[in-house]
Amino acid sequence: MQEESFVVGPIGIFDSGYGGLTVLKAIKKQLPQYNYIYLGDNARAPYGSRSFEVILEYSLQAVKWFFDRGCHLVIFACNTASAKALRTIQQKHLPYLDPTRRVLGVVRPTVEAVGMFTKTKKVGILGTIGTVVSESYPIEISKLFPDVTTYQQACPMWVPIVEYDEISTSGAEFFVQRDLNLLLSQDNNIDTIILGCTHYPLLLPVINKFVPSNIKVVPQDEIVAHSLANYLLRHPEIEQQCLKEGDIQFYTTDNTELFDKRSLIFFGEKVSSKKVPHLN
Ligand code: DGL
Repeated sequence: MQEESFVVGPIGIFDSGYGGLTVLKAIKKQLPQYNYIYLGDNARAPYGSRSFEVILEYSLQAVKWFFDRGCHLVIFACNTASAKALRTIQQKHLPYLDPTRRVLGVVRPTVEAVGMFTKTKKVGILGTIGTVVSESYPIEISKLFPDVTTYQQACPMWVPIVEYDEISTSGAEFFVQRDLNLLLSQDNNIDTIILGCTHYPLLLPVINKFVPSNIKVVPQDEIVAHSLANYLLRHPEIEQQCLKEGDIQFYTTDNTELFDKRSLIFFGEKVSSKKVPHLN
């Protein structure tokens, strides 16, 4: 249990780095009335290739950090954390941290939307190594849509390409085309591709060059925003604990100048972040 108890607080948005800003951007557009705190654990990013134990430890530290700042609702705007840490935190840690607060992820809302898109019942998933190895997408899809077959492809180069702003280079084209080919060659009838990483929407101009027009490419940002709006409607007890002044604060565990500069790419506007020295 936390030492202080807050009546209302901001909604916490967590990512390993910058990617979650694409989700926050969509959330802000759909739900501008709420207060948000964004935390990018840039100092320890990328999470994509880290072990289950490490991602759990980092994500749990982030949850405690948000709770200490009065958040009653925390969104993991990171597929890797959602896939590898969310369930354990919800089941094992929330009951003793504070059973009245909520931590939600991005995998489940994305999967819920998939049923609307696929006609052939063959869905491709692109994600980090961590997300793909966790099998979270195939497991969740098989629960909700047992008739859908999933195919996965890890794209370990895509996050660095985005983070280092190499999106418009021939190198980006090479890796995007290669990984899409590896995915699509698994089955000719894949008609839906989920971008299962918060960085990937920034690569859409490149992705669209190599995906046939009959295949629907599905980014998550708007799906997650829509799902959050829906969640808040269905859970007035949580909604009432969300501060509504339309303010957003940004925190990073690494260099704030760099964060503010890069936020332009991911959030569409320059922000003014504060530094979190360490999370543990
Ligand atoms: N934001 C993470 C995700 O959505 C990818 C970045 C990372 O590997 O840390 O999976």
